[in-house]
Amino acid sequence: MEQSHIALHTAFRIGPVDPRIFGGFLEHLGRAVYEGVYDPGSVHADEDGFRRDVLEALRRLRMTGMRYPGGNFVSGYHWLDGVGPREQRPTVRDLAWQSIEPNQIGTDEFMTLCCKMGWWPMITVNLGTGTPEEARNWVEYCNSPAGTKYANMRAANGHPDPYGVRLWFLGNEMDGPWQIGHVPAEYYAIRAQQAAKIMKDTDDSIELVVSGSCNPDLPTYLEWDRQVLEYVGSYADYISLHRYVGNEAGDTLDFLAVTNAVDRQIEEVDAVCRFIQGKTRSRKRTYLCFDEWNVWYRARTPKDLDGKGQFAPHLLEEVYNLEDALVVAGFLNSFIRHAHVLKIANLAQIVNVIAPVMTRGDELLIQSIFYPFEMYSRRREGVSLLPVVNGPVYEGRTNGRATFIDASAILNQSQLHVFAVNRHPDEAAVVEISVGDRDLVAFEGAELLTGPHAQAANSFECPDVIRSQPFAEVRLNCGKAAAELPPLSVTVMTFALA
Ligand code: AHR
Repeated sequence: MEQSHIALHTAFRIGPVDPRIFGGFLEHLGRAVYEGVYDPGSVHADEDGFRRDVLEALRRLRMTGMRYPGGNFVSGYHWLDGVGPREQRPTVRDLAWQSIEPNQIGTDEFMTLCCKMGWWPMITVNLGTGTPEEARNWVEYCNSPAGTKYANMRAANGHPDPYGVRLWFLGNEMDGPWQIGHVPAEYYAIRAQQAAKIMKDTDDSIELVVSGSCNPDLPTYLEWDRQVLEYVGSYADYISLHRYVGNEAGDTLDFLAVTNAVDRQIEEVDAVCRFIQGKTRSRKRTYLCFDEWNVWYRARTPKDLDGKGQFAPHLLEEVYNLEDALVVAGFLNSFIRHAHVLKIANLAQIVNVIAPVMTRGDELLIQSIFYPFEMYSRRREGVSLLPVVNGPVYEGRTNGRATFIDASAILNQSQLHVFAVNRHPDEAAVVEISVGDRDLVAFEGAELLTGPHAQAANSFECPDVIRSQPFAEVRLNCGKAAAELPPLSVTVMTFALA
C-alpha cells in the first residue's frame, strides 16, 4: 500500500478562507428557476411557490452567496421586465438558450429567495444588449432609500427597504464570441468603466467584478484581462474566472489531475492583476472571483443547448459520477490553497442545470457532486495552511505530474480540518498528517465519499450509490494522525491541536 505524508505548520498560513468561495449560481436557464427552485404547482411549493424540498437540500450546502440571473441569459435580459405585478410582466424570447422567459421570477422574488436561504445576493448586469444606465438604475432599485424613481418603484412593489446588494458583476463572459453583445476587450473595457462609474456613483459601498477571461483556450486569454484591468483601473475590485472541465478522453487519472490546470489558471490571472498593479503604480489590489466552475462536458450537444422556443426545457442536465465528485473536491482544494488571492467562487449551478440537485416532477435527487461541497462547506471557517504533500506521483497525460493525494487544510484556532482526495484508481493510501509545531491531540470526526467505481452515479431509481458517510478509521499516535484512504475517495478530517 502506498504511503503519503501531509506536512503542515501553523505558521505557514496562506490566508483566511473567504466564506464567499462557497457560493452558488442560479441562471434563468432550462429548469433551474422554473421546475427547479420555483414550482408553484408542486406539492412541495411553499407560500411563495418555492420548492421546499429543493431549498432543504440546498440548505445543507451552506452556500454563502448566489449569483443571478445569468450567465449567458443576462446578456439579453432587461431587469425591468421582471419587476412589478406578475400578470403585467412580459413573456419574452431568451436568445441565449432559445427559450421562453415569462418573467415570473425577477429581482424581488430572487431577494425573497436569498432571504429564505441566508444567501448574499450577487447580481450580474447586462452589458451585452443593456446600457450602463440600465445597470445603474438596477443598483438604485436594489440599494437606494425610497425617494427617487427606481427606489420608489421598489417601494411601490412592496419592498420599502433597500436590499443592500453588495456585489455586482459587470456583464458575463464578454470575451466569448457566443455571448450576446460580445465585443473586443477595448470596447468591453469602455462599457464596463462607464457602467462602473455610475453604479458606484449611485452606491459607493458596492463591489464590482469585471468580466475576465472565461476560458484559457480562447486566443485572448490573459491579454483580455490585461486590457480590461488597465482601462477599468480602480473600479475593478475583482476579476472573474470561469472553468468547466470534463473527461472527454475517458482517462480518469488525467481528469483527476485537472487541479493542476485550475491552480495554474488562478495563478496566471493573479499574475496579470499584479502586473497591472505594478505597471500603474496602483495601491489597488484586484482579487479573483471564480464565479462559474464545475464539471460539464456530457450535456453539451446541440440539443442540450437549444431550448427550441420552449418554456423550462431540459438543458445542460449533466449526470454526475464519482470521478466528477473527486474533481469538485479538487477545485475546492485549489480554492483553499489560493485563499490569499481567491475571494469568491460560485458553483455553477444549483438545481437541474449542471447541478448537485435534480428534480423530476415532485421527486428530488442528490447527485454525487453535492457531497464534497457539503463536506467542505461544513468545515470552511479558518485560515488556509500550506499543505506539503510527499508521496507517490503519477504523470497525467495532459495535466502533468500529480501526487496521488491532493490536499488542503484549514486551521480554525485550535481545530484543524484536513481535506484529502485519493486519486488512485485501485489502491488505498496510508496518509500520515503532522503539524510541525503542534501535536494533534484528538480526532474529532471525519467523513468519507467513495463508491464502487469511477463512473458510478446516483439516479432516481438508485439514489444512494454515491453518498458521504462517517469515517472512523483515523488513528492518533505521538501527536500525528494516520488514516487509510480508499481508492477514488474524498476524506475530510477534523482534529484538535495541542
Ligand atoms: O453555466 C452555464 C453557462 O456557462 C453560463 O450561462 C455561461 O456563463 C457559461 O458559458
